[in-house]
Amino acid sequence: KRRIGILTSGGDCPGLNATIRGVAKACYEMLGTENVEIVGISDGYYGLIHNICKEMSPDDFSGILTRGGTILGTKRQPFKMMKVIGDDNVDKVKNMKKTYQDQKLDCLLTLGGNGTHKTSKLLADEGLNVIGLPKTIDNDIFGTDVTFGFHTAVDIATDALDRLHTTANSHSRILLCEIMGNKAGWLTLSAGIAGGADIILIPEIPYDIDKVCKSVQKRSESGKNFSIVAVAEGCFDKEEAKMKKKERTRLRQEAGITTATNRIAAQIQQKTGLEARVCVPGHMLRGGSPSAYDRVLATQFGVYAAELIREEHYGMSVAKVGGTITANKLDDIAGKTKFVSPDDQLVQTARNLGISFGD
Ligand code: F6P
Repeated sequence: KRRIGILTSGGDCPGLNATIRGVAKACYEMLGTENVEIVGISDGYYGLIHNICKEMSPDDFSGILTRGGTILGTKRQPFKMMKVIGDDNVDKVKNMKKTYQDQKLDCLLTLGGNGTHKTSKLLADEGLNVIGLPKTIDNDIFGTDVTFGFHTAVDIATDALDRLHTTANSHSRILLCEIMGNKAGWLTLSAGIAGGADIILIPEIPYDIDKVCKSVQKRSESGKNFSIVAVAEGCFDKEEAKMKKKERTRLRQEAGITTATNRIAAQIQQKTGLEARVCVPGHMLRGGSPSAYDRVLATQFGVYAAELIREEHYGMSVAKVGGTITANKLDDIAGKTKFVSPDDQLVQTARNLGISFGD
């Protein structure tokens, strides 16, 4: 019998349940239902630390392909969170290993982003059989071209940009849409292109506000009465780019700036005299049913993880590279982040289309 533990950790995203289902169905299919026991671990590493587990049955994986969120629950940063609730004297690594042993697991599947992968590597180094699966709307996991959740979020952000076009046009306004992505600009770049943004601002290409305003002005002078700006939540200007994050945050706080997007909107209004508004879809980008693309990707990732389990090939993270589903060693990818290169072909595509990056 093979006992497989599975958890989802970090921020949720569409496709987590589709992946869980893919793993389970493929394990039952390839190894035989009678030879597989799946243990669902609640709320990510928090459940692993506190042994909050549930025996799953094949029925638990039925009807969840289309469901958003995660049937297992998730939590962010278990270590910091436990500090907050004064639980910090718990030896988390020791506890996680103990749960793994007490539950008699043969392996542990961790569905998560960069933080999750760091902990997965730590557990693999401690001798646990771990397989990571790359989820995040940010698409910033090193070693994979794409993560599940990303394309659904691109679709939702694109829809937001589409809708902003008509209202911006009606009111002759500049509409800024703040798009998630943490420190990476993948989501804003893709949605910006798909949603026909006129200006795209991402952390990897620090902007100059005068150049941003110039682009807006130029469009206005050419007879276009509105502009759409796709702004990555993590973006900053060229001056801020020279600073450490702490310094940047301090200066923003002192100046009463809540987000870069709000500041850019105020600066555009002040410098161009055009009316500007901010729209923040926020967590809507992470909610709801996965797109068809993500259902396929999540299923492929899940099935590949089941194949790794069959081969007892651990210490890996599933990936898609150049159209092929494969896996990277956790050692090679944990602790690294995939950023947009300013020379990326997609950036060039946007530039050749006349989209400004404000640089
Ligand atoms: O990593 C996914 C993500 O949605 C980022 O794009 C964003 O910066 C962050 O999570 C938001 O985190 P939280 O859900 O904890 O507010």
